[in-house]
Amino acid sequence: MIIARSHQELREALHTQSGSVGFVPTMGALHIGHRSLIEAARKENDSVVVSIFVNPTQFLPGEDLSKYPRKEEADFKICELSGVDVLFYPDVQTMYGDDEVRICAPDVRGYILEGASRPGHFDGVLTVVMKLFNMVRPQRVYFGKKDAQQLALITQMVENFFMNIVIVPMETVREKDGLALSSRNVYLNPSERQEALKLSSALKRGTEMVMQGNLSTVEITDAMHKILAPLEVEYVAIVNRRFESISKVKIGDTIVLVAAQVGTTRLIDNVWM
Ligand code: PAF
Repeated sequence: MIIARSHQELREALHTQSGSVGFVPTMGALHIGHRSLIEAARKENDSVVVSIFVNPTQFLPGEDLSKYPRKEEADFKICELSGVDVLFYPDVQTMYGDDEVRICAPDVRGYILEGASRPGHFDGVLTVVMKLFNMVRPQRVYFGKKDAQQLALITQMVENFFMNIVIVPMETVREKDGLALSSRNVYLNPSERQEALKLSSALKRGTEMVMQGNLSTVEITDAMHKILAPLEVEYVAIVNRRFESISKVKIGDTIVLVAAQVGTTRLIDNVWM
């Protein structure tokens, strides 16, 4: 595995590879969810590039940028054992200069749900992803469905800017008890971890209601709120794949999302129907 820390090193590393490039952009603290993205990239491409960069522009003031988990040694090992060809590990100076051009998230889709709770977050995500795509020049890029709004906005950016890249959405990986894997789960103490299961339980209840034929988004969100109580819920939302709110679930075009605060940790989860 080649470790590239600068743009020049990345260029040289990419020159040693031939054929299609599958790319997995990450912020590190890699878990089994990331490994499933790397495995899919490994199967479908000649070379696999992973980036690890804790992107400061997607954190709002007061968010967990400085305490975001950093596990360089373990992450490098995971990448090596997973068959990654090139690991891009830039620092902030490599990725950003002064007074730069930025990508702005769309006015509506970028500022509802996650974008309402974290205004400006998606500008930072889209800007760094655009930079990474231009540096790595992949054919396919792998993202988890857990960050559903991020996935939708990146897919939209690729379409809006006519970029020749295939975005591959991958299923959320869960612990046996249903907790969606997230780098932020390390913040949870044992009792908070137990409380965190309310997110997946609420989504499970929503799924059951749909399977029983109840398609009313009002009734489903009400039932989910009852399960989530007394957590500090930021939102329960049911939208179509374009992130427009809907009154009835339409199978094949619906995402049910939840965001809640568990102790000091903000967690998100969703199911795609
Ligand atoms: O999902 C993430 O880990 C980040 O938002 C991403 C896409 C790597 C951009 O920093």
